[in-house]
Amino acid sequence: MSKAVFIRNAAQLVTLKGSSDIPRVRAEMSELGMIENGSIWIEDRTIQAVGTDVELAAKYKPRLAEAEVIDASGKLVTPGLVDPHTHLVFAGSRENEFNMRLQGATYMEIMNAGGGIHATTRATKAAAREELFHQSYQRLNQFLRHGVTTVEAKSGYGMDWETELKQLEVAKQLNEQHVIDVVPTFMGAHAIPEDYKRRPDEFVKLLVEEMIPKVAELGLAEFNDVFCEKGVFTPEQSRVILEAGKRHGLIPKIHADEIEPYEGAELAAEVGAISADHLLKASEQGMKAMAEKGVVGVLLPGTAYFLMAESANGRKMIDLGVPVALSTDCNPGSSPTVSLPFIMNLGCLKMGMTPAEVITAATINAAHAINRGHEIGSLEVGKKADVTIFNVENYMKLQYLYGVNHTDTVVKNGQVVVRGGHLVAEFSLS
Ligand code: NIG
Ligand code: FE
Repeated sequence: MSKAVFIRNAAQLVTLKGSSDIPRVRAEMSELGMIENGSIWIEDRTIQAVGTDVELAAKYKPRLAEAEVIDASGKLVTPGLVDPHTHLVFAGSRENEFNMRLQGATYMEIMNAGGGIHATTRATKAAAREELFHQSYQRLNQFLRHGVTTVEAKSGYGMDWETELKQLEVAKQLNEQHVIDVVPTFMGAHAIPEDYKRRPDEFVKLLVEEMIPKVAELGLAEFNDVFCEKGVFTPEQSRVILEAGKRHGLIPKIHADEIEPYEGAELAAEVGAISADHLLKASEQGMKAMAEKGVVGVLLPGTAYFLMAESANGRKMIDLGVPVALSTDCNPGSSPTVSLPFIMNLGCLKMGMTPAEVITAATINAAHAINRGHEIGSLEVGKKADVTIFNVENYMKLQYLYGVNHTDTVVKNGQVVVRGGHLVAEFSLS
């Protein structure tokens, strides 16, 4: 049994208590469940008590000496951040494309010329499994240093069975060996492979009849995602792929309306997706359909920033009742960052969200976007003890002092894994 951890006397303790069943919408997104001078008692990997320091000090008085005490005075304590959309497992790097885009080439032009997703696919195919694991492990360490304790990870840089399998197996191994929880998504439908360019429906058939059933049978993914975009998968093909996943127990997710309006938000509502992601060009009708069905809108303003596009309209989505979450979209082409706090800042400055709303979006609503609302995303008795302590005294300052990593301490699954902004040695393997 691990030692008890007692986080004491936070200037602000953001609990987000009371929304484990369904994600927060509208004004609920601003209700942080804040406790001033707040404390948490952690034991057995679980949150045992949350309250004011006075209350908890009295309750645990006889046991104070046995706990590891973390002084959070003057600091902000939040649930461990949750990143619900990443392409974590990849090899290579695409700074050359960044440079081309700065000189006028577009993301889709680069991809259609065989670069973009295809370039990372070639690098990922060529990488030895150990190398892929090592690079992704380092990326997870960086996530942890930015206060992130759970990460969704998509395949999709294989598109042939062998490489998709390699990516999903690496994701599984990362989940087992790294302290961060890695939640796997199959995204074989990330692009049309170059040898299927003239017969895309055959690739859809391969996904539906062979890959999806195998992924499900091996238990290697919980979700099934598709890049529904002009020039990639049509809404009809996307529907076929997502419905096939459903028949095999994979929950639908969708990259929707990212570059062109394509009724992806509407499709997400129709197929009962758990989330629709990107949504830069989503229609009002699509947003309303999502609100009605409770589809989480996972917004990725870092991608819009990096592709020099206008961000999704987060404000409008929240006002229409869409439960909004935020994510890095960490990938080598459109958003090579692990800084969820920076994404939160973009949520404020580029999408009209408030500092309170972006915290909800990167914690409890993000947890709901990956079907983990009951386990993580809020600081409540019985939940997994995933806690981030930021070196700022209030939640507004976390967004105001932007571009700086304020992460001070991270407790993951009841263990201190970041201290004073640094990984605790035993978690910084290799
Ligand atoms: O979410 N839009 C499609 N997929 C990723 C980008 C992947 C890449 O460029 O490597 C995204 O933006
Ligand atoms: Fe993505």
